[in-house]
Amino acid sequence: MTVVRPGLAELVAKVRQPAGGSADPRATAFAVADVLRENLPSPRILTEEERLGDPDGYVGHTLHAEAAFSIVAVVWRPGQRTPIHDHIAWCVFGVLQGVEYETLYRHDGDHMTEIGRTANRAGEVSGFAPPGDIHRVHNTGDGTAISLHIYGADLGATPSSVRRIYDLPVR
Ligand SMILES: [Fe+2]
Repeated sequence: MTVVRPGLAELVAKVRQPAGGSADPRATAFAVADVLRENLPSPRILTEEERLGDPDGYVGHTLHAEAAFSIVAVVWRPGQRTPIHDHIAWCVFGVLQGVEYETLYRHDGDHMTEIGRTANRAGEVSGFAPPGDIHRVHNTGDGTAISLHIYGADLGATPSSVRRIYDLPVR
């Protein structure tokens, strides 16, 4: 059975030019964020079953991968969160449903220091690039959140967009 993903083909076509267009990862992320903001799909880019999430943890669905970028939709039930991590490449994310809570950290040798918090609501799009992208995403709300992530990496060839997990105390 072919899964219909409304808006995906159009988004891929529009992201391709800015994703491959600049040697500066931060500028690329901002240009891709502009495209995603104008072409943000509805949560129906996922099937009804995918939108339910999983009680065992947040779930990522890789919807597209090519040399310059990949598109991953993530479903978070209330209380689900990532470890503290950073990425191998620039990243853009847009919230399709609910609220995605993000905490930023600084790596201080033997511990982590919290340096900021943002609550990203449905319709909001952000872009960033390493270094300085150490973060945790946590659904502290009471509804299921869905976000779309575009990474500047080929997740068909590379198993993960994560560079490192920081399993250190937060002080
Ligand atoms: Fe991340």
